[in-house]
Amino acid sequence: MLLHLPDILTPDEVREAQALLATAPWGDGRVGAGELARQVKNNEQLDHDCDAARAIRTLVLRGLDRNTTFFSAALPKKVFPPRLNRYGGDSNYYGNHIDGAVRYTPGTTTSIAERVRTDVSCTVFLSNPEDYDGGELCIADTFGEQAIKLPAGHMVLYPGTSLHQVKPVTRGHRLACFFWIESMVRSDEQRRLLYELDMNLLGLRQQHGDSDETVGLTGVYHNLLRMWADT
Ligand code: NI
Repeated sequence: MLLHLPDILTPDEVREAQALLATAPWGDGRVGAGELARQVKNNEQLDHDCDAARAIRTLVLRGLDRNTTFFSAALPKKVFPPRLNRYGGDSNYYGNHIDGAVRYTPGTTTSIAERVRTDVSCTVFLSNPEDYDGGELCIADTFGEQAIKLPAGHMVLYPGTSLHQVKPVTRGHRLACFFWIESMVRSDEQRRLLYELDMNLLGLRQQHGDSDETVGLTGVYHNLLRMWADT
């Protein structure tokens, strides 16, 4: 399921993130990438430990926390700490690839790295679309290729199994925050059914209030989630 989630960040938060990124210490995005990725990857990435990265990570995680549609679509079990990247100038594309199945969070002196299975991929756009040309996130979907370029603060969520690329940025810079989710429900098909059931129930309740039927169907939702979720 490919889903556009508007307004993960408020306009004020977008401005704050953009200001932080304007002076941030960008580095080569190929450092730390796997052998296959290095052949097609040409962008810049922010050190995940720098002040700007920490501050924006907090903004994005807070944005996810208050977004019930995100929760319903992703059913998150673990969120890989959001990262930041930039495309532009000589480092302006990321060719076709599928993300690694398992990512390792950075370990600390007191904890070992944690594994996150990348069931769901997310990108929060941080640049205003009119400030750059190109840079579409192209995702191969069952219905063909989707070219995604969203307003700043909006997010796209798509299955981690998808082949995708970021097209060359030919003017300006494209800033984005990206991360992965290990979902309680591993199957994209099952997640989509749960999401559709949940959203339709929400609509029914808004139109007609609660009824025996919505109570019954909410029970079905939870019983399916109980059957499929791995917590
Ligand atoms: Ni990728």
